[in-house]
Amino acid sequence: MKTQQSHRFADFLKRYPAFDSIPLLNTLRRREYKRLDQQGHVYLDYTGGGLYPESLVQDHADFLQKRVLGNPHSQNPTSLASTHLMQQARADVLNYFRADPNEYDVVFTPNASGALKLVGESYPFQPGSHFTLVADNHNSVHGIREFARHKGAHISYIPLDPHTLRAPEIKSYLAHRDETKPNLFAFPAQSNFSGVQHPLEWIEQARDLGYDVILDAAAFVPTNRLDLSQVHPDFVPISFYKIFGYPTGVGALISRKQALHKLQRPWFGGGTVRLVSTKADLYILAKNHEAFEDGTPNYLSLPAISMGLRLMSDLDVDHIHHRVMALVEYLLDEMQQLSHSNGAPLVRIYGSTDTKARGGTIAFNLTDPDGAFFPYQLVEAEANKEGISIRAGCFCNPGAGEFSLEITSEQVRTCVKQATIDGVFDVNAYHKCLGSKPSGAVRASLGLASSFEDIVHFLTFLTSFKDRTAIAADGDQYC
Ligand SMILES: Cc1ncc(COP(=O)(O)O)c(C=O)c1O
Repeated sequence: MKTQQSHRFADFLKRYPAFDSIPLLNTLRRREYKRLDQQGHVYLDYTGGGLYPESLVQDHADFLQKRVLGNPHSQNPTSLASTHLMQQARADVLNYFRADPNEYDVVFTPNASGALKLVGESYPFQPGSHFTLVADNHNSVHGIREFARHKGAHISYIPLDPHTLRAPEIKSYLAHRDETKPNLFAFPAQSNFSGVQHPLEWIEQARDLGYDVILDAAAFVPTNRLDLSQVHPDFVPISFYKIFGYPTGVGALISRKQALHKLQRPWFGGGTVRLVSTKADLYILAKNHEAFEDGTPNYLSLPAISMGLRLMSDLDVDHIHHRVMALVEYLLDEMQQLSHSNGAPLVRIYGSTDTKARGGTIAFNLTDPDGAFFPYQLVEAEANKEGISIRAGCFCNPGAGEFSLEITSEQVRTCVKQATIDGVFDVNAYHKCLGSKPSGAVRASLGLASSFEDIVHFLTFLTSFKDRTAIAADGDQYC
């Protein structure tokens, strides 16, 4: 078995000779992630969350043990020490993404969703404004439409081609706008459903038409370089735990200063104001990022952001990208070759089946020899037993789900009605109503610590479905 695997790896290296050419990356799994192999984990949910390298947690703990750090909203020595570290972390974020500090600012948030909500609730939508977004977005982007709707803006979706899961064109959709109003366009640099990477050229196209642009980079930046000296989106939400796994609870809104100034906060809170008067009923908001960081920031965690970014710079995200994409290409090719004894394919991949303009996230379903779908819940449950962490459902990306699985708006409306009894919505009844077609998929996503062995394990697991007959789902459904 071992020899068979080494032959397989040797073949892989012939195809991707650069794979093990970067010593720092080559030894990373052994140095920083031995817990995965010691505990028999095959981790394939990097789009859900990155995994922290051991040294990052250790260095952070060592650092905290040596320092005395107070709440940064004061002028005492321990407070000033925290303020200094926060400023350093802000500068490190700008530097990592090659963003000009004269052009960009960084607002620390709890996560990417927090960053998106800041934009949504503060964007100066007005009657006649347009909020245009591709269907392939995370729910935390879709949620902005409710703020837009509330302020009377038009909301329009750019549909996806059901096969490629790409938007065929965006210009005609963006052309519908009133240039005299504030208009917002949102798309992900990389889909968290299919791994499709949408063209970054859309940023300038939309900005030329007068839109402010949200580039959701949460799923893109863990394995791709985002260079903000080359592209100039107005708002970029990210979560740091997706990049280097630690700490959770810190994200950022990287924002063009001009765009940040357009936002109108619907409230004020601790840390965001220069002056509040109860008697005069007035307040004066702080400037720039300060106006958007509500309450006490996660100041003890921010030094770990600086450390994590330093680590990413040392490893070089371009090298990480090439390594991950070699594994992705191999995995995509092998998955497409898996078949039943009658020749019927075992795997149906949604979106790109090659590595052109895509990242390391693969959405798929398994089908039986007659073409019937294995319930994605079953695939996940069996993967769990093997210690394989994948994800199942629609991954908070209902648009890519609806387009790839060809679920129509009529079906959604009918099934929501049918599954709502006495005002209570039963999600299982909803999915059952959708019938024999799958209402979700399985997602495998690769990242920083992925190894060739992970891929082989995963392919062996997929092969265990060969010649089996699919039976209907019975279990929790989630989308
Ligand atoms: C593309 C994309 N946007 C936004 C988010 C939301 O990130 P968070 O849950 O960290 O707020 C995710 C999370 O998976 C994502 O993949």
